[in-house]
Amino acid sequence: MASYSLLSHSLTFILLLFFLPLFFTSFASQCKNPPIIFNFGDSNSDTGGLAAGLGFPINLPNGRLFFHRSTGRLSDGRLLIDFLCQSLNASFLSPYLDSLGGSKFSNGANFAVVGSSTLPKFVPFSLNIQIMQFLHFKARVLELVNAGLGNIINNEGFRNALYMIDIGQNDLADSFSKNLSYVQVIKRIPSIIQEIENAVKTLYDQGGRKFWIHNTGPFGCLPQKLALVQKMDLDQHGCISSYNSAANLFNEELHRSCQRIRPQLTGAAIVYVDMYSIKYDLIANSSKYGFSSPLMACCGYGGRPYNYNIKVTCGQPGYQVCDEGSRFLSWDGIHYTEAANEIMASKVLSTAYSSPPTLFDFFCHN
Ligand SMILES: *[C@@H]1O[C@H](CO)[C@@H](O)[C@H](O)[C@H]1NC(C)=O
Ligand SMILES: *[C@@H]1O[C@H](CO)[C@@H](O)[C@H](O)[C@H]1NC(C)=O
Ligand SMILES: *[C@@H]1O[C@H](CO)[C@@H](O)[C@H](O)[C@H]1NC(C)=O
Repeated sequence: MASYSLLSHSLTFILLLFFLPLFFTSFASQCKNPPIIFNFGDSNSDTGGLAAGLGFPINLPNGRLFFHRSTGRLSDGRLLIDFLCQSLNASFLSPYLDSLGGSKFSNGANFAVVGSSTLPKFVPFSLNIQIMQFLHFKARVLELVNAGLGNIINNEGFRNALYMIDIGQNDLADSFSKNLSYVQVIKRIPSIIQEIENAVKTLYDQGGRKFWIHNTGPFGCLPQKLALVQKMDLDQHGCISSYNSAANLFNEELHRSCQRIRPQLTGAAIVYVDMYSIKYDLIANSSKYGFSSPLMACCGYGGRPYNYNIKVTCGQPGYQVCDEGSRFLSWDGIHYTEAANEIMASKVLSTAYSSPPTLFDFFCHN
C-alpha cells in the first residue's frame, strides 16, 4: 500500500540520518606509530595479489570509486582491510607478489590472493604457501637488514607486527560447487581449521604475538551462489540455508580453535572477529543501512533478481553496472561494495564483534 511504503521510506530516511554520521566519522586515527601488518587470505582481502602474481587482468569498473583505476581489488573501491589500515593511520598493504610495491614493504605485506583456500596444500596460493612465502620474505628481509643493505623490518618489527588471517570461504564454497553433499562438506571443516591453526602456530614460532582472525561470511547470500545453485533451500532473507549453516559450523569450530590455542601460545593476543554476524545483519537489515537489493550484484549481467551470469562477470565484455550513486551491498555477486565494506569496518572497529573485545588501536604503538 502506498501510505505504508511512504512511511517505511521516511523511516529508512530517518534511520539513515542517525546512522550515517556514525559510519563516516569513525576512521580518524590517533595512531602515531602504525604497526607493521601481514595479511593472509583470499579475495576478501586481496589488494592486488592475483593481478600481480598471475598477470590476471582485473578491469574497470573494479576500482571506479576512490582509486579511479583498477588496483586488482575485486570491488568498486576500498576493501575492509583498507579501512582497517586507514584506522591505524597505516598505508594500504602492497601485495607480496607485486615486485613494484610502492611501499617497498616497510609497512608489511599482503599475501592474500583471490581464490585461495587452505586445502589442498602446496598449490598456489593456499594458506600454507602464503605462510611459506612469508617465511621466505622474513628471512630475506633480515638478511638485508643484517648486511646493512636496508632498513626494511627488523626482528622487533616482526615481533610487534599485526598478523591478520581471513580464509576458509573458498574451502567451503568450492566443496559445494563440486557437488559434495552437506555432510561431506561438514566433514572437511576440522582439517580446514587445522590449517589455520598451523598457520598461527608457525607465525608464533617466528615471533608473531598479535593475531586478528576473521571468521567466514554468509556465502549462501552471495548473488553468485543464488544464481548458480539449482535446488535451493532458502531462508527468510532469501539466502541458501545449507551454505550458511556450513559457514556457521565452520565459525563455531574456528572460535573454539582460537580458545584452544590461546593457553598454548603464551603471551599472544588472538582475536576472533565475527564477520558473519556483521555481513548477515547488513543483508537482513539492508534497508536500515540504505541498501535496497541486498541479493543483487551492482556489476554483472542478467538484471533481477541477482544480476549475475558466470559467462559475463563484472569487467568482462557485455557486463552491466549500476550507477555510481546507487547503493548496493554486492559489487560483483561475490565481493562487497566499498559502501558495504566501510560499514563493516565501522562495526569491526566497534569491538562488539571481536572476542575478546579488542579496540583495533591495541595494535598501534603509541
Ligand atoms: C598519520 O601519518 C602521517 C604520515 O604518515 C602523519 O603525518 C600524521 O601525523 C599521522 N597521524 C597521527 C594522528 O599521528
Ligand atoms: C554438479 O551437479 C550439477 C547438476 O546435477 C551438474 O550440472 C554439474 O555439472 C555438477 N558439477 C560437478 C563439478 O560435478
Ligand atoms: C536486524 O536488526 C535488528 C535490530 O537492530 C537486530 O535485532 C537483528 O539481530 C538484526 N538481524 C540480523 C540477522 O542481524
